Amino acid sequence: MGSGLSAFAHDSRELAEAYDRVSELQLESGQRLVERLGLREGDRVLDVGCGTGRLTQWLAERVGPTGAVTGIDPVEERLEVARSRGGAVHFAAGRAEALEAFEDQTFDAVCMSSVLHWVDEKAKALAEVRRVLRAGGRLGVTTSPRELARAGTLRRVLEPLLAREPYAGRIDASRLTFSKGGCTTTELVSLVLESRLELVELQVTPQAQTHSSGEALVTFIEASAFGTFLRPIPEDLRLPLRAELVAAFEAQRGPEGVALCGWGVQLIARRA
Ligand SMILES: C[S@@+](CC[C@H](N)C(=O)[O-])C[C@H]1O[C@@H](n2cnc3c(N)ncnc32)[C@H](O)[C@@H]1O
Repeated sequence: MGSGLSAFAHDSRELAEAYDRVSELQLESGQRLVERLGLREGDRVLDVGCGTGRLTQWLAERVGPTGAVTGIDPVEERLEVARSRGGAVHFAAGRAEALEAFEDQTFDAVCMSSVLHWVDEKAKALAEVRRVLRAGGRLGVTTSPRELARAGTLRRVLEPLLAREPYAGRIDASRLTFSKGGCTTTELVSLVLESRLELVELQVTPQAQTHSSGEALVTFIEASAFGTFLRPIPEDLRLPLRAELVAAFEAQRGPEGVALCGWGVQLIARRA
């Protein structure tokens, strides 16, 4: 994913609305993260990469009418859905790497739920986060640990497919966005410490999301990747690969449905 805004040009209102509908488990993961931020009524919170704003709205309920919550996201289609919720949250266009709209020490907490792996300039983003946090303010991050990507269902299903005709030799799997942007847990901790934030908590845990079908699971991945999933794949191969992926996931169906398993990191850091 390039650092330019072109990386965000592939989303659509349809994908954003799909994400809003199918991101229940994502919301729960964000809520678990927010629980660890220790928010109080009246707090000022920044939700970076707020997407369609479900978690942002919940944050606003947590801090109450005396608090203030701002959600930023680079993708206009996501913000349109977020703004359509109404309520007291302020939504604005913005990227984690460029928080110049906010003064130093503006926020009691910053939330980055499932966002950091999409951010190209992570060190710059964390420096910006530190700048806008007040002394004692907290940052919460959830992301996918790169060292465990191969232990997840998506890679286990996708890699054998890519090794076969007609995909073999025509697709560079390392260019696929979901494998490109993440960092390892060690890199994440280094980034946080180098940005002069204190590490407060770190957890690496297994995660599983069960979807009703292979189609629903692939729709979830597409919607959460705001149009970038399979984008680097030659156009003539995209639809066939998508269909094969749906079938391969469907073949893994268990009694509960089709599971997407992987690992997640939850990190809390604090500005001293
Ligand atoms: C998987 S969604 C997560 C949305 C929301 N935080 C949640 O928990 O449901 C990832 C979001 O990160 C946003 N994003 C991507 N790159 C970003 C960047 N550089 N800065 C801020 N947000 C970014 C995307 O537009 C997308 O809405």
